[in-house]
Amino acid sequence: MATVRAMIQNGRVAVAWPDGRRAEFPAIWLRDNCACATCRHPGNGQRLLDTLDIPDDIAPVDLELADSDLHVIWSDMHESRYAGTWLRDHALTPEARNERRSRRTLWGAEIANDLPRGDWAEIRRSPEAERDYLARYGEFGFGLIDNVPAKNGMVVEVGNRFGHVRVTNYGAYFDVRSVPDPTNLAYTAVALGVHTDNPYRDPEPGVQLLHCLESDAPGGESILVDGFRAAEDLRHGDRAAFELLAHRHLSFRFSDRDADLSARTPVIQLDDDGVVAAIHFNNRSAAPLDAPLEEVEPWYRAYRRFARLLRRPENELRLRLAPGQLLMLQNDRALHGREAFDPNLGRRHLQGCYVDKDGIASRLAVLSRDEAAA
Ligand SMILES: [Fe+2]
Ligand SMILES: [Zn+2]
Repeated sequence: MATVRAMIQNGRVAVAWPDGRRAEFPAIWLRDNCACATCRHPGNGQRLLDTLDIPDDIAPVDLELADSDLHVIWSDMHESRYAGTWLRDHALTPEARNERRSRRTLWGAEIANDLPRGDWAEIRRSPEAERDYLARYGEFGFGLIDNVPAKNGMVVEVGNRFGHVRVTNYGAYFDVRSVPDPTNLAYTAVALGVHTDNPYRDPEPGVQLLHCLESDAPGGESILVDGFRAAEDLRHGDRAAFELLAHRHLSFRFSDRDADLSARTPVIQLDDDGVVAAIHFNNRSAAPLDAPLEEVEPWYRAYRRFARLLRRPENELRLRLAPGQLLMLQNDRALHGREAFDPNLGRRHLQGCYVDKDGIASRLAVLSRDEAAA
């Protein structure tokens, strides 16, 4: 889109586009983001310019528009050129900043009618199918993949397709089934309330993959809840409770013969703009709250209110995984749990692994970039 107007205003560069959008760029910001071959390496795009080498009193002295590029001459004699589309994409207005956020759709039980899902053979065959699947996964915080061969360790192959499997003290992957003398309640047949996995790790696992190998035991339905939606419900219904859970850190702990893991984190984690960024909720591994005495009762009221929201039937997606289905969960958003099952009347065997979030986001970005370039 062509840049129509640009002028120097109070030491900033003000730009207006034909559709009426406007944005201001502070001199230090604009000079620091010069993309010329002296300021950025032409091959890898990394910054060569030392931000400290920019004079304190840097100012634009002259502007020129050429095609859709903005040409700036600086008080330090440097000359920069910025594409109009680049300026628009990086504008600092609330509107533009909001557009840069990744797409997020909150959901409840109704998502059962339109699950974000993909087919493993399709995903492997078509980059477009893979990108579509990952984009839907990103928007909703989970995805279901059909037709993943019900083979031992297959979950690791899927994890390494999208990102990089993170090895933990549970190994590269773990078996979720009922065993004698379990070290974790997950390895029993009892019901598990919805939770995020392993908040006692630092960093916490970003993505969990659960692959169903066998499922003919009565019960054992999977339950998923959008923790971001529950957090927004709490924010709107009880602001003080929301803020307490966002502020006060809770410790989580896991210990067995070989490991003693602990980490501290707020139940609701916000980003620097106050947007919900992560949920850390795991009642099984929550350690005693360590907070100033007068905060304890209000914190419990807030925590119990949030826990009740997570249990509302209209917030729950229930599904029964069949052998060959794989559930991929953004661990700090899509909370998961299960109904009890009867291990005497059949089998229920899942294999799980953890993948870091950045690898998945990178895969989606690369596939989208390739598709845009094609
Ligand atoms: Fe879990
Ligand atoms: Zn430059």
